[in-house]
Amino acid sequence: MANIPAEPVIDSTLGLLFDGYEFISKRCDRLQTDIFQTRLRLEKTICMRGKAAAEVFYDTDKFSRKDAAPKRMQKTLLGEGGVQGLDGEAHRQRKQIFMGLMTPERLQQIGDLVLHHCREYAQQWERQNQVVLFDQINEILCRAVCTWSGVPLAEGEVAQRTLELAALIDSAAALGFRHVQGVQARKRLEAWLADLIEDIRAGRLQVPEHTAAAAFAHSQDANGNRLSPAIAAVDLLNVLRPTVAIGRYIVFAALALHQHPDCRQKLQSNPADYTLLFTQEVRRFYPFFPFAAARTRQAFDWQDYRFSESTLVLLDLYGTNHDSNLWEKPEEFWPERFMHWDGSAFDFIPQGGGDHYKNHRCAGEWLTIEVMNRVLGFLANELEYDVPPQDLQIKLTRMPTLPESKFVISNVRLRPQDKPL
Ligand code: HEM
Repeated sequence: MANIPAEPVIDSTLGLLFDGYEFISKRCDRLQTDIFQTRLRLEKTICMRGKAAAEVFYDTDKFSRKDAAPKRMQKTLLGEGGVQGLDGEAHRQRKQIFMGLMTPERLQQIGDLVLHHCREYAQQWERQNQVVLFDQINEILCRAVCTWSGVPLAEGEVAQRTLELAALIDSAAALGFRHVQGVQARKRLEAWLADLIEDIRAGRLQVPEHTAAAAFAHSQDANGNRLSPAIAAVDLLNVLRPTVAIGRYIVFAALALHQHPDCRQKLQSNPADYTLLFTQEVRRFYPFFPFAAARTRQAFDWQDYRFSESTLVLLDLYGTNHDSNLWEKPEEFWPERFMHWDGSAFDFIPQGGGDHYKNHRCAGEWLTIEVMNRVLGFLANELEYDVPPQDLQIKLTRMPTLPESKFVISNVRLRPQDKPL
């Protein structure tokens, strides 16, 4: 057995803050390896990137999610008791509740709702000097996902709930004030949704069948018990929060449209073939979650290396999507590359890898793609706008990141639908 290459420092926590999304790949390049060990917050941690690494990381005999996510993140992004920290049968059963929501009909419905609100909001944008796309898209997504999930949202609540949901995402890896904002937002949102679950169970609130609210109110855990209102709220929030998170990808898509006018033309002339290629490339190219975390269940050997029991392991999602062994010219935005992609579950992993039902791969990946496709079609074919000078820099040390200006558009016009492009 060889030793796993080690970063020659006592602890890499500062390096992580300093290098952000590129933390793992920079060290892999420096050590000429796809795997290395280090310490993060003084805990021994193995970092890996690439397709083979993803294959072993999603082997449920070898890895567990128990105690893998940092406690700080459970207080903001994830919550406690939700699907992310479950293993085995408990995970399979809870995951099925999420996947049951992702039928083709239901995906079409969320796409329709998002598009409906885009058109409605655009009428107001026509009357404004400037529009911050990120803030507006977040509101649109919040409205759409609440309706889709059977969660009543009064008009006067839209702005506040949108900000709270966005705060959970923004505080994912934050320290200081942003972290505190995330903790407070989570407390308010969980209390709101736990009350909702109790109202549904008590018959005080009727919600449509096949919605997330109905599913989490009525489902049982692996022991046949109803989920507690607190846990049902955490997992209902696991639908609302990440749907609002798609706002970041939509801003990146708008940025890509702006910086690659040839792509806009292809989207207009050949939407049926080009939209999905573009959406996939946005998800590959732009940074969202840097890595996923798991713990070894027991000691095992992989390749030439020995993994010891209960070791924290990080899989580099961003680095794998930018790995030059897997992607030709990975630093170029080039949607056509997806014409030749073989659909592997382990090389293109912006939302995790493996199987959606059995592994911890994102439950909302298909929903994300559907919503992105629909908004992309809207931006490219139904809207005209200018992009005034602004700071479009994407800082790779901020996680999750976004163009600094949040993408401002001006002079917005809804294109008459009978006007040729
Ligand atoms: C911006 C779009 C999104 C991104 C970048 C994203 C990314 C991710 C990532 C990286 C994971 C963890 C994978 C792992 O641990 O191996 C994950 C898990 C998850 N995502 Fe998403 N996601 C997005 C949208 C959504 C949406 C729209 C939903 C639901 C409607 C959703 C629901 C979930 C759930 C429930 C899990 C936990 C799955 C499990 O533990 O089995 N996500 N997502």
